[in-house]
Amino acid sequence: MLTQRISQIKPSPTLAIDAKAKSMLAQGIDIVNFGIGEPDFETPENIKEAAIKAIRDGFTRYTPAGGVLALKEAIVEKFKRDNDLDYRPEEIIVSCGGKHALYNLFQVLFEKGDEVIVPSPYWVSYPPMVMLAEATPVIVPTPEANGFKLTPEVLRAHITPRTKGLILNSPSNPTGSVYTRSELAALAEVILDHKLFVVSDDIYEKILFDGLEFFNLAQLDPELKKLVFVLNGVSKTYAMTGWRIGYLAGDARVIKAVTNLQSQSTSNPCSIAQKAALEAINGPQDAVAAMVQEFAWRRDDILTRVARIPGLKCVKPGGAFYVFPNFSYYYNKIKPDGQGSYSDPLADFLLEEAHVALVAGIGFGEDACLRFSYATSRERIATGLARIEAALQKLG
Ligand SMILES: Cc1ncc(COP(=O)(O)O)c(C=O)c1O
Repeated sequence: MLTQRISQIKPSPTLAIDAKAKSMLAQGIDIVNFGIGEPDFETPENIKEAAIKAIRDGFTRYTPAGGVLALKEAIVEKFKRDNDLDYRPEEIIVSCGGKHALYNLFQVLFEKGDEVIVPSPYWVSYPPMVMLAEATPVIVPTPEANGFKLTPEVLRAHITPRTKGLILNSPSNPTGSVYTRSELAALAEVILDHKLFVVSDDIYEKILFDGLEFFNLAQLDPELKKLVFVLNGVSKTYAMTGWRIGYLAGDARVIKAVTNLQSQSTSNPCSIAQKAALEAINGPQDAVAAMVQEFAWRRDDILTRVARIPGLKCVKPGGAFYVFPNFSYYYNKIKPDGQGSYSDPLADFLLEEAHVALVAGIGFGEDACLRFSYATSRERIATGLARIEAALQKLG
């Protein structure tokens, strides 16, 4: 009954764990939810007001499929201001969230026979999205010792005549790793040699700690910029996950094709959310700074607590709001037969035993780890980590 294309697609594991945690909550169980990847802050008031005004002004009709010009112009300005990148409005499309923009881009850029390099650990949706374009995701493990970052040698070793693209995500979901300018420059040589298209997923651009500076590959050299598609959006930066606005910048021919696809499928992103996004990008940015400051505190706190638990190791994240500790010390205790995934049964055990929701690393391509999203209060972080420690102790 179902197509081959869709039969291979499983539901997003991050949304699945959240659904399970919420159903336990609904049964009255006190769950500490580290599962979901969304800021726990409210959308700032000025942004909400812009949306209310849009409704009152009757801005409630179809807009152009790829978004209104005023928003595209604000995005052009944002790229200039924040990244020193020059784009024209024809090189921008606004979609119903970053996920939608990526899905549409993959449909336009990749097809059967193409290979797309996906460094692992990766965001859960990249491989299925590549597969939905009938291309092949080539999963390239990156060493924990290198902060889970891709090196030029490893990249080169995985390129074949079929390789068409590479996906890079910095700061990363799930690891929080951030590429430096020189690390990107080293990758750039390989990318230019092989003329690979790059999808630069910058959705966590603003959530950076320790004074780290953000760079993407498009910024490095004009030749490279022609090959790079930059994905960004308002979900994470402005606590606007439910509003569903993401955007993409790159070669005008590709953006036009993405717009055609969008015009034949979803049409425009929500008109009201577009007005809200315009205010988010053009309006005051102080709420972002306050949120990042709080995330930095929580990251330090959670790292200290993780370090106290026997056997756990963790790469220090430079951005996003995730930590991705290595739990493999406990693996032969949770599953002595050594078969199949370990992180899945451990996540189940922690949910059942400790009432703490984490996402198993297997969904991100790294079975040794589990992901915490620390987009929850300081008090819940303390409770959750104490419960995990007690539950792991029971494993012995
Ligand atoms: C790495 C990464 N890229 C893109 C997205 C898409 O976000 P949205 O569709 O809310 O814009 C997410 C959301 O979880 C993400 O973690």
